[in-house]
Amino acid sequence: MTTLMSIVVTMIAIMFRCSNGLSMNYYMMNCPMAEFIIQNSVRSALTSDPTLAAGLIRMHFHDCFIQGCDASILLDSTDDNKAEKDSPANLSLRGYEIIDDAKQQLENQCPGVVSCADIIAMAAREAVFFARGPYYDIPKGRKDGTRSKIEDTRNLPPPTLNTSELIKMFGQHGFNAQEMVALSGGHTLGVARCSSFKNRLKNFDSKNDVDPSIDSQFVKMLARTCNAGDNAEQPFDMTRNMFDNGYYNALQRQAGVLSSDQTLMADPRTRPIVNGYAMNQAMFFMDFQRAMVKMGLLDVKETGQVRQNCHKNN
Ligand code: HEM
Repeated sequence: MTTLMSIVVTMIAIMFRCSNGLSMNYYMMNCPMAEFIIQNSVRSALTSDPTLAAGLIRMHFHDCFIQGCDASILLDSTDDNKAEKDSPANLSLRGYEIIDDAKQQLENQCPGVVSCADIIAMAAREAVFFARGPYYDIPKGRKDGTRSKIEDTRNLPPPTLNTSELIKMFGQHGFNAQEMVALSGGHTLGVARCSSFKNRLKNFDSKNDVDPSIDSQFVKMLARTCNAGDNAEQPFDMTRNMFDNGYYNALQRQAGVLSSDQTLMADPRTRPIVNGYAMNQAMFFMDFQRAMVKMGLLDVKETGQVRQNCHKNN
């Protein structure tokens, strides 16, 4: 009976195996509680602080776009290496403690099995769902990378990019314009700090030069936020902890916070996609989850280490 069971389990495992060595049920045999443990860590942390859902989703994006989804974002700087997390582009990332908590529990249950890269991917997925977004299954089995260099973060998109530049940058990772617009919908959660959008206020005083793509009332709101300093926070949409299509509705009202947000409405190539998601939340959810699964497969490592401590190489 046990032999039969293990044959069936192995067959199922083979069936669900992806071409890149990842599989939906990767931990079924050696850490069956993995998803449950991560789910619990994320849910209990977000119950206390729902704003951290945004942090986890952004962390997954910033991990995958640099060197692939290999948890390089979690490595600490050392005496002879400045790591990605210390780059200005990553200083406002949040939610590291949730990953640490899940990792500690996983190491107690099944030491050396669940990679930090998989924990980030699963935590982001749980965060989307916690915020009432879609739930999607993701392949697992990523290994952790050993390289984390501050200079690599120049490949993260700055908030000043226009649509052509965004299409180009996301295209380099294999995403088309529609997928780029769907992924930008991650901005349905969370906030940007004044330093990320004050470029849009430069000409605020000289009425004629104000960025014409911003609503005139909204630009005043951004300016008021910035009165409190560079770190003052501006929610991307009216429901910062709710995963919905409010971000696209904001773009339609010319109330996108970053230049890189509002440009999606200004450009005729992406405007119809923004309008589509603003009108049809289900379509946004479907495209977002597909694009997230795809993002989670960027340059994944089949071989390599599973870090014991996500902050440092073994
Ligand atoms: C399209 C290009 C993108 C640009 C230029 C961009 C840029 C930014 C910037 C500048 C911030 C604010 C940082 C700060 O002021 O502290 C931010 C926040 C955020 N980004 Fe993006 N981002 C992009 C795409 C994405 C994608 C693809 C995702 C996820 C799928 C994402 C998820 C988030 C989230 C959730 C936040 C809020 C974080 C928080 O509240 O802690 N972004 N992004």
